[in-house]
Amino acid sequence: MIAKASAPAKTILFGEHSVVYGEPAIAGAVNKRAHVIIKKSKTDRTVFRSPDLNFEAELLTKHKKYILKRGKPGIIRYILEALYKVHDHSPIDITLYSNVPIGSGLGSSAAVTVATLAALYRYHNIRFNKHSLAHDAHMVEQSVQGMASPLDTLVSTYGGLVYLSRNKKVEHFNVNFNVPFVVGYTTKHGNTGKMVKDVKSLKMRNPKIINPVISSMGNLTNYAKQAILKRDFKTVGELMNINHGFLDVLGVNTLELSRMVYNARDAGAIGAKTTGAGGGGSIIALCPGKVDEVANAISRDDNILKIRFTRKGVSSRVYK
Ligand code: PMV
Repeated sequence: MIAKASAPAKTILFGEHSVVYGEPAIAGAVNKRAHVIIKKSKTDRTVFRSPDLNFEAELLTKHKKYILKRGKPGIIRYILEALYKVHDHSPIDITLYSNVPIGSGLGSSAAVTVATLAALYRYHNIRFNKHSLAHDAHMVEQSVQGMASPLDTLVSTYGGLVYLSRNKKVEHFNVNFNVPFVVGYTTKHGNTGKMVKDVKSLKMRNPKIINPVISSMGNLTNYAKQAILKRDFKTVGELMNINHGFLDVLGVNTLELSRMVYNARDAGAIGAKTTGAGGGGSIIALCPGKVDEVANAISRDDNILKIRFTRKGVSSRVYK
C-alpha cells in the first residue's frame, strides 16, 4: 500500500509581528507544495529521501535519531517528530518532493509537516479531519522549534486565505484572490525567534511609540481584509506599502529586503513588503500585469518565485 499527501506553502500578507501582540493577521496558501509518499520498506530500515532537495537519511524513529547518507536536511527533525507521534516504528520508505525553497520564508516546514502527518494517517488508516490535522501539525512544529505560530500549519492544512482575528478566531476568506505575486528571497533566512525578541525589547524601551504602531498595524490588517473582500487590489497594494514602513519602524527590515521592495515597486508592483519575520528571508510584491518586469528587477540581485494564492489545502489518498 502507498499513502500520498501534499500540502501548500504559505505567505503572510499582513500582520507579522503585530500578531504576536494579539493583533489580526492575514496569510494565504500558495501554489508551491510539498509532496510526501509513504510505503512499506523493502528492508528492515526506515529511509527518508528527497530527490529534488538532494538528501537521504536512515531514520531511527524510536530514538528520534537519524544517520545522514547524503545532503543536509534541516527538515528531518519535523519528519522524525511526526513519526514519533503517529508511527508504530515499522520500517517504511518516505519520499519528499517539494518545490518550496527551504528557508525562503514560505513555511516549508509546515507544508512538509502537514503532508507527512496526512500521509502517515492514511498509511495507518487513522481517521483525521482538517481541524485535528492542523492541531497535530502545530504540536509537531512546537516540539521541534520550541515556539511556533499556528498560522503556518493552519494555512497549509486548509488552503486559501486565512484571517486570524484579534481574539484568535480563524476566518476563511470566501473570495477569489488569484492575483499574481512575486516573492523575492535572500539566501539568508532570518531567525524568527530572535526577531520576535528584538521587537519585544524595542517595544519595552519605547512603549509610547511602538504600542500605537502595533495597534495601527492591526487596524491596517482589518482595512486590508475589507479591500481583499472587495478585490480592490490597488488598496491592498497601498496597505502593503504602509505595512512595510511599519515593519521598518519595528527594525526587522534589512538592506536586502528593502532593496527588493524598492526594485519591485520601481518595476511596477502596486504593493511590496517584507513577509514573515524579517532580518533576512523574503518580500512579497503584488504585481498584476507586471510579473515579468518585477521578477526581472528583483532577480538582478536576489532570488525570485512567481506565486499565486490557492484554495487547495492538504490532499491525501492511499493506493492499495
Ligand atoms: O517565521 P515566519 O517567516 O513564517 O513568520 C513569523 C511571523 C511572526 O509574526 C514574526 C512570528 C509569529 O510567530 O507570528
